Amino acid sequence: MEENMEMTEVKQKLEKYGQSHVLRFYDELSENEKQDFLKQIMDTDLSVVAQYGKKADARGEFTPIRTMQKDEIETRQDEFRKIGADAIREGKTAALLLAGGMGTRLGSDNPKGMYNIGLTKEVFIFQRLIENLLDVVNEVGSAPRLFIMTSEKNNDATVAFLKEKKYFGYPEEKVSFFKQEMAPACDYDGHLYLEEKGKLATSPNGNAGWYSSLIKAGLDEIIRKEGIEWVNVFAVDNVLQRICDPCFIGATIDAQVECGAKVVRKAAPDEKVGVMCLEDGRPSIVEYYELSDEMMEAKDEKGEPAYNFGVILNYLFKVEALDRIVRQSMPLHVVEKKIPYLDENGNFIKPTEPNGYKFEQLVLDLIHMLDSCLPYEVEREKEFAPIKNPTGVDSVESARELCRKNGIEL
Ligand code: UTP
Repeated sequence: MEENMEMTEVKQKLEKYGQSHVLRFYDELSENEKQDFLKQIMDTDLSVVAQYGKKADARGEFTPIRTMQKDEIETRQDEFRKIGADAIREGKTAALLLAGGMGTRLGSDNPKGMYNIGLTKEVFIFQRLIENLLDVVNEVGSAPRLFIMTSEKNNDATVAFLKEKKYFGYPEEKVSFFKQEMAPACDYDGHLYLEEKGKLATSPNGNAGWYSSLIKAGLDEIIRKEGIEWVNVFAVDNVLQRICDPCFIGATIDAQVECGAKVVRKAAPDEKVGVMCLEDGRPSIVEYYELSDEMMEAKDEKGEPAYNFGVILNYLFKVEALDRIVRQSMPLHVVEKKIPYLDENGNFIKPTEPNGYKFEQLVLDLIHMLDSCLPYEVEREKEFAPIKNPTGVDSVESARELCRKNGIEL
């Protein structure tokens, strides 16, 4: 009786969103599988799929934002370093690794952090990041709390790997994992994909929901207990970035802003990076394809390009500000991706080309919800070696070359 009622509800929900086809193999499932599937459907927000054909919301008015540039940072670095080092020593700053992505462009079945970029020895991406953080630990004499966000898809492999490698020398008691939420994926007509006969295809819901996922996992208790006031969020794939960099932390605290963003000077006016700016007076990021010719040519008071600093996904967020905005809704981005799925005959297909849409919330929208942000310039050659692809631009190859230039043995 119970199951019938649940089934009626599920059917109504699927009909409402035009997704009844997902029950195609339902009769072939065991009782347990049926229960799990119905629960997944009821728990999944199907309204996101309705976004697939929708045009993105219009953007506001862009104006330049002031960036703290290298010369200013150099002049004040002792002052900033002291403020930042004190904040780390007092346990006020945590690091948070965004490692929930699928890394589809890199094409490895393992979590991206497990990728070995070494040539003469093993050098895993996770290892490079932790070694960078350990530089700060050695300098300051205190290890920040390290949160690691994984997803349902890569959590077990990530946790097992880091445990086996003894966290590459990071104190285990300072490491806390949590899983991010998932979103359904659909084909180009907005029909949900199945990844098993009794399971909707889902993918991690983007890199913006990390704070609400952290709260859902109960880890905000650590934040309160340890008195963490700032969280340095960073991507898994930049193997050169400085994490919990005392100078960056000090400059952000000193500027009395809600967030700091590491940025690099653009290599060319049309470089494909998101650029820091103000949008309707609030901090924001304009994508390279949204930059008008006028914006590309605009100059600041020194005669330098006014939109000249690209983000590298290394941000310092003020916890107080995150608490204020955590329940606000964020825009969804529709992203074209390769989505493994079951065809009508129940055959599992792993596509080699993009075959549909995933739905993601992006950290750049989080920035726009904050009142203030300090863009902080770092040297690209020293701090920006992202690994997105196996070869070519932003690849294992280009990152190896940058590591070599920085004297890192691979
Ligand atoms: P990317 O935008 O490069 O996405 O992530 P990705 O999923 O890792 O890679 P592709 O596009 O499939 O090749 C930038 C950062 O955000 C994290 C990633 O792990 C990476 O550190 N991320 C991304 C998440 O933590 N969760 C997500 O849902 C998406």
